[in-house]
Amino acid sequence: MDMHIRDIREMDLEGKRLFIRVDFNVPLDKKTGAVTDDTRIRAALPTIQYARKAGARIILASHLGRPDGKVDPKYSMVPVGARLAELSGLEVLVPDDCIGEGPKNLLQNLRDGQVILLENLRFHAEEEANDDGFARQLAALCDAYVNDAFGAAHRAHASVDALPRMVRDRGAGLLMKKEVDILGGLLGEPKRPFIAVLGGAKVSDKIGVVDHLLSKVDALIIGGAMAYTFLAAKGIELGASRVEADKVGLARRALAKAEARRVPIHLPTDHVVVTEVNEAAATRICGNDGFPADGIAVDIGPGTADYYATLVRQAATVFWNGPMGIFEMAPFATGTRRVAQAMADCEGTTVIGGGDSVAAIQQMGLADRVTHVSTGGGASLELIEGRELPGVEALKLPKPVL
Ligand code: 3PG
Repeated sequence: MDMHIRDIREMDLEGKRLFIRVDFNVPLDKKTGAVTDDTRIRAALPTIQYARKAGARIILASHLGRPDGKVDPKYSMVPVGARLAELSGLEVLVPDDCIGEGPKNLLQNLRDGQVILLENLRFHAEEEANDDGFARQLAALCDAYVNDAFGAAHRAHASVDALPRMVRDRGAGLLMKKEVDILGGLLGEPKRPFIAVLGGAKVSDKIGVVDHLLSKVDALIIGGAMAYTFLAAKGIELGASRVEADKVGLARRALAKAEARRVPIHLPTDHVVVTEVNEAAATRICGNDGFPADGIAVDIGPGTADYYATLVRQAATVFWNGPMGIFEMAPFATGTRRVAQAMADCEGTTVIGGGDSVAAIQQMGLADRVTHVSTGGGASLELIEGRELPGVEALKLPKPVL
């Protein structure tokens, strides 16, 4: 059957009780409990404001952290609600549970200028179990459903999967639509040359992405610790650098696939090397043939950074996920910063797919200079891997016959 996804602007929301699944899984200060990065809250504001103007009575719902199905005050949505109130100018009411009488009573008396933010969905084990009974209790709160939680779209959980299937009147929020359009667009017909820059620690986290992108990109750039597993697969001696010995075979197969497809995989040719991983350690620059036996690579070297930055600047489309070195330690952040700067300087379409690369571009104050910074870490990678996202699939409706 021909299926499509409506977006919120195609829905009639006047007077409806609207359940909006958001991803307010934000970092909190360990001591004060306050929100330390409100990017995801800000990203949901356009949908919330749109729904308000359209006359909906809004119920927001999210998970926060991993409380394992038990009530844990450390993961309460109350501080998130406080930040949302500051950012939106709305009065945010947080009932003591996400189901039952609390939210129902609040809903009955909800006034203009007020929204409900349900308590953490993951205080119930049934959320992660994608339990129908729990989803039915959530469904009882609403007439219509919108999913704006792109960051959680890869989770087949009750509020993301079972619930929308029970609500006929459903659609995607503005953030969800933008994320799926931009990230999905990379896999469609991107302007060329299209390159992907992948970094981070583990080959296992990214191998699916490498594999899928090899049939999409004109070149792949690899940095970060995962590069050492690829270099090891080429027989290069890397001293004491971090190599995932059990993943060398995977890397070798990816290199062979790239060669067969004639897609270049660029690997670092020089490195910042230390003998101990700490910020005060003395550093030296080594090429691929001059690694000391006790040397640990912690960042791409200046020659590699120059080359990678040039490739990024000249591309028409770039997707970047993962740092080039241990960027949390300032002396080893140069390679990551050079890529971030090149993303900002590139005149093409530049997309950052979640995680540490988002932190890097934000730390540098360059987030406004790239086309799109995804709010989804795991979700953006799964989408780029070509996998179906349960949260997107569950929004599909049969196309009306004209
Ligand atoms: C995320 O932060 O990636 C999403 O909110 C999903 O959270 P989870 O990994 O705990 O399911």
